Order: sequence, then C-alpha cells, then structure tokens
Amino acid sequence: MQFKYLMPTKVFFGRGSVRENSSELASFGKKALIVTGGSSAKLSGALSDIAAALEGLGIEYSVFDKVENNPSPETVKAGGEAAKDIKADFIIGIGGGSPLDAAKGVAVLAVNDMDPMELYTNSFRNKPLPIVAVPTTAGTGSEVTPYSILTRNDLKTKMSFGNADTFPKVAFLDPAYTETMPFNVTANTAVDAFSHCLEGYLSKRSTPPSDVLAKEGISIFGSCLDALVRREIEGDTREKLLYMSMLGGFVISQTGTTVLHGMGYNLTYFKDVPHGKANGLLMAEYLKFNYPYAKEKTDNVLRLLGVETIDEFGGKLASILGEKPHITDEETEIFASITMKQRSTASNIRPVEASDIIKMMRNM
Ligand SMILES: [Fe+2]
Repeated sequence: MQFKYLMPTKVFFGRGSVRENSSELASFGKKALIVTGGSSAKLSGALSDIAAALEGLGIEYSVFDKVENNPSPETVKAGGEAAKDIKADFIIGIGGGSPLDAAKGVAVLAVNDMDPMELYTNSFRNKPLPIVAVPTTAGTGSEVTPYSILTRNDLKTKMSFGNADTFPKVAFLDPAYTETMPFNVTANTAVDAFSHCLEGYLSKRSTPPSDVLAKEGISIFGSCLDALVRREIEGDTREKLLYMSMLGGFVISQTGTTVLHGMGYNLTYFKDVPHGKANGLLMAEYLKFNYPYAKEKTDNVLRLLGVETIDEFGGKLASILGEKPHITDEETEIFASITMKQRSTASNIRPVEASDIIKMMRNM
C-alpha cells in the first residue's frame, strides 16, 4: 500500500455553523474581500450571516459580486484587483462552485503580480491569501478542494489549477444555505457531487482512504436517488446531499477527476449544459466503458446505489436531469480531441482513445 493523503481544510458542518464558529475568522486579519455571484449568497442567508460575523469581530469587508457562471480568468483578475484595492488580508468565497473557484484565483492574484493565465503554472511566488469557503449548493465540493476551475476560451474548455496552498483554510457547511436552490440546480449539483465520488473511486489515482470516502458518498447518493426521481427534496435530504458533496471534495482532492469531467466540459462550454447535468448525461456510457477494467468496483457502485444494472441507473439519471443536447458528428469529433488534451483523461482507469470518447458521446 502506498498513498498520499492531504486534507488541510478545517470543516464546520451543520446548521448555524457560521454563527457558532465565527471566532475562526478573527485570526485571518482585519480586512476581508467577499467573492460571490449574483444572488445565491444573499438569497440563502449566507452573506448576511458572514457579514454579521465580520461586523461582530470588527473586521472590515468589501463585496466583489461579479462572478459569472463558469468564471473566466479575467473575472478572477478583476477580483484580484479588488482585493489589492482594499488591501484584503483574506478572501471569503460564498456561493456555488463558480464563486468558490473564483475566490481561489482571487486569493492568488491579490498578492502576486501575474497574468491570470499563469495561474495554471501552479507556481506562485507569494502564498495566496487565506481562503474561507461557504457553499450554497451541494455539488462542487470546492470548499474542501484546492481546485479552481476556470473557463479557457483559448482552449474552448474548462481547466483547473490549484496546489496545496489553494485549499480553503476554513469551510462552513450549513445545509440551510442550500434550501433556496430550485429543483433543477439541486439535481444537477447533486449529480456533480456524486460524479466526484464515482470518478475518484474509478480513477487510476484512487487510494484506500479515498475509496472509503467515495463509497460513503455513493451510498448517500443512492439513499437520495428516489427522492430526486420523485422531485421531492424534503426531510434531511439537503443535509445528506451537502455531506455527500463534501465527501466528493475530499475524494477528488486525492484523486482528481477522470474522462467523464473532461467530456462533460464540452457540453457546458459549447451547449450551455450545467456542469453536473453534463456529467450525468454521459455517466451510464462512462460506466459501461470502464466496466471491463473495474468490474468489482462498478458492481459495488450499483449495489450501493440500490440498482441492478447500469441501464437502470441511467434511466433514473435521465428522468432527474431532463433532455439531452443535440450533438452533430462533426461536433463529437471536436469534443473528443479537446477531451484528449485534459489531464484528467489520463487518470481514467481504462486507457482512453479519441474513438472511445466519440462512441460514448454518440451513445449518450
Ligand atoms: Fe465537478
């Protein structure tokens, strides 16, 4: 047995976790930049809880709320300038994956004079500012990963950077903040979180401890599957989904993702399909492709999900996620060539050729 395991983020999970643990923020300094998107930070109550916590501690703050869905390096650059302007001591990301990922880039650029494209070197002269993460969706797991996934218009895809210094120092996970998500966002983000557990489990880079976490996440998704099919998110489902998403973050922090994320980015970049849905639409084909190389693990996945076959699971996903985008043969070939250049494609448990990607995308 040989593996590395790193999880430096201090996690506070549960209702009221910001209010009850706000003293954690005191050690990071006297000025904070809050990085958010348009509305979920406000709607969820997370922004007002963080603002009250900062005010209670005498910490000044500004809000940078210009993070779009699937943020670009240019947005991160603007956030870095905003942090420099106020001489921020630390960065607080509030929202879904986009603001949390942007917050990591902002934390780097706030203290490094570099072009945002240089973020991808993962080499930063000055250590990024401390990052605090408050998720308002249950999908990305970004609150407990080092990854920041930005849209690369030059490469027509999304690509991640991050190193040990871009893990958030503290994450506050309060299921109450996820209650304002509409059903489709709940479903898409839940499938993303599941995808992290699944891909980490089926990655060439999987480790014994990451497999334990992945199997727990997969079994939790299984216990929520029927509620998602019925479109009834009630009781403790939100808490379970947020817990699963954290587990998925723990997993991919060790393993990274695989060809499924790489393929899905095409549907997001070219077809505007939300990230989790993009992964979910391709998931059954991905499982079938990998089956000869991961029979025992795939059988475990199906058992933990409470389904008999990959097709049964694919049918449930289809009913949760809704319609598929139309893709031409020519597009499929372009998508395959872009996916082959993703680092995560090389981590897939079964070696991948462009022709395999074309087949999976056609059979989707
Ligand atoms: Fe993801």
